[in-house]
Amino acid sequence: MTDHLKKFKRYTVTAALPYANGPVHIGHLAGVYIPADIYVRYLRLKKEDVVFICGSDEHGVPITIKARQEGVGPQEIVDKYHEIIKRSFAGFGIGFDIYSRTSNLIHHETASGFFSTLYEKGEFVEKTSMQLYDEENKQFLADRYITGTCPHCGYDKAYGDQCENCGTSLSPTELINPRSVLSGNEPVMKETKHWFLPLDKYSDWLTEWILEGHKDDWKTNVYGQCKSWIDQGLQPRAVTRDLDWGVKVPLDEAKGKVLYVWFDAPIGYISATREWAEHQNTLQEKGGNDQVIDWELYWKDKETKLVHFIGKDNIVFHCIVFPGMLRAEGSYILPENVPANEFLNLENEKISTSRNWAVWLHEYLEEFPGQQDVLRYVLTANAPETKDNDFTWKDFQTRNNSELVAIFGNFVNRTLVLAHKYFDGKVPAAAGLTAIDEEVLATIQSLPSRVSHSLEHYRFREALSEMMNLARAGNKYLTENEPWKLIKTDPERVKTIINISLQVCANLAVLSAPFLPFSSEKLYRMLNLDVLPWSQAGQPDLLKAGHELKPAELLFSRIEDEAIEKQVQKLLKTKEANNNNISSVNSSKPEISYEDFLKMDIRTATILEAEKVPKTKKLLKLRIDTGIDQRMVVSGIAEFFEPEDIIGKQVSVLVNLAPRNIKGIESHGMILMAEDSKGRLFFVSPAGKIENGSEVK
Ligand code: 2FM
Ligand code: ZN
Repeated sequence: MTDHLKKFKRYTVTAALPYANGPVHIGHLAGVYIPADIYVRYLRLKKEDVVFICGSDEHGVPITIKARQEGVGPQEIVDKYHEIIKRSFAGFGIGFDIYSRTSNLIHHETASGFFSTLYEKGEFVEKTSMQLYDEENKQFLADRYITGTCPHCGYDKAYGDQCENCGTSLSPTELINPRSVLSGNEPVMKETKHWFLPLDKYSDWLTEWILEGHKDDWKTNVYGQCKSWIDQGLQPRAVTRDLDWGVKVPLDEAKGKVLYVWFDAPIGYISATREWAEHQNTLQEKGGNDQVIDWELYWKDKETKLVHFIGKDNIVFHCIVFPGMLRAEGSYILPENVPANEFLNLENEKISTSRNWAVWLHEYLEEFPGQQDVLRYVLTANAPETKDNDFTWKDFQTRNNSELVAIFGNFVNRTLVLAHKYFDGKVPAAAGLTAIDEEVLATIQSLPSRVSHSLEHYRFREALSEMMNLARAGNKYLTENEPWKLIKTDPERVKTIINISLQVCANLAVLSAPFLPFSSEKLYRMLNLDVLPWSQAGQPDLLKAGHELKPAELLFSRIEDEAIEKQVQKLLKTKEANNNNISSVNSSKPEISYEDFLKMDIRTATILEAEKVPKTKKLLKLRIDTGIDQRMVVSGIAEFFEPEDIIGKQVSVLVNLAPRNIKGIESHGMILMAEDSKGRLFFVSPAGKIENGSEVK
């Protein structure tokens, strides 16, 4: 059954725990936290029992790497960013019931207890395997401590656990040309023991639960990713790591090992719920209230609806790995839905923390004080719900000036000002409704269920646009009826017009509350109304005749060109700084001996055939004549060369490189390329025609 048709007693809504290794930006807000917040605000207005959970993800390699970069300890990093992130979310009105952190004791206990339960139930597979190890730093290289070329798309800065270019989840040994982030050296293989979750064994129930059970109610992007994972065949996944930062593995034989961050982080949702319940219970006790909140109901009762809001890079962990863990444990419910969004770009480029290509939330809050709803609005109207989307400052300005100001704000302001001017701030009575009045009342009545329907299907853009249709209808009604002209000839009619316009305003206060909480609050204040539950929306008489209004305030104000120009300039500066960084040529690699050099057999060769490797962006499959033989080489150059343009080209090839399997194709050798400071690739070709197989030395 599709999830919105089932009736639930309570809701547990989680929003992905952001890594505390940097501040949060508009991509975070658009992808996860705004939709989650809208959903929760809506549920609360419907008087549902809901707990909204989030916190900082403070473990894992992203944190320790940041600490290394800043030359401080990991605790210092997480303390700093936890505070910044927490404040940013609060600033935008993201109404978590708790914003916790995974370094809390309760989390360490919960995560380690969860591991022990699975361990005791025999749910793990223990494996001793060869892992990449940095001899210089005497450290195993987990996840982001290794970079190399993605075997799927050829991106050369893929991490040991994931390629950020194509989103594929990787294991370190799959990387082509792996390098230690710590030393830049090529890692060696060393034996180590780890505990694995045997996802391969869950394939059948995952097929039944997701592929058959959630075909109709999960978003197609989410369903599609799950399907492709399951179809490709699931592999056991290690849930422990050789690291010293994280939740210690609670086994004597696991000294120096911690839980993998993707094992502990989702358990963070559970720990945070426990922490929230404990805190609430303490408050209640103090207040003399003996009603006790049982956290377990929010995680174990079948009548609880669990919904995870995440970005697309987190899909596999929330749809496959975490449900696998919950099911293996046995006493937990599974998510009903995982409405993941795609990515938001900024001015047509991928948002990047390391390149400072972002609009940082803490900076926005300082630079646009009191304008949180503008960003909430723009990011919802333009949310990357079904595909990656782009944020531009121009669009931000246009949506503010011609939608929020010109439609919503203008309508509310005109209505309130006229009500004060003509009726002394008291709601006039409506009488003798005309067809045009009935039409607006019908819009008032029909919209709440339309907005609800969209929200319950996680279609937040659509829901927002429905809400705006009410403002649009009100604005049109006022403009067409011109009460400012009628007041001289038909003051009775003006009473009805203003009454109906005020009813539209009151309905807007209810309907806009999930999306624009700050503006809705202001509107309630002007209308002198207490916050109304969602069930009241749609009614034509939320304001009774004679009700006293408060003075009109401006809901939204125009954003001028200068403010936008300032932001655009700021991004240009970032771009310049990045370009300067890139053009400073990377420092050289460590010294090698002449013997090392002699090991390489580099020959001239001619490209005979070239074709794209299907489903990859960067890879070309080339048949080359090396003078010694004809062979296949896979090369990550497809972004720079069309296959037909390079046939016949003479190039240099490292011919004695061990064969590697790239996307199912055996590659025998490597074409030498020069990469310039902008990342463009050029062939290293002989200056004149020369026979194939000539040695390059
Ligand atoms: O991708 C991320 O930013 C992760 N820190 C999300 C974790 S979500 C959950 F599992 F905690
Ligand atoms: Zn990739």
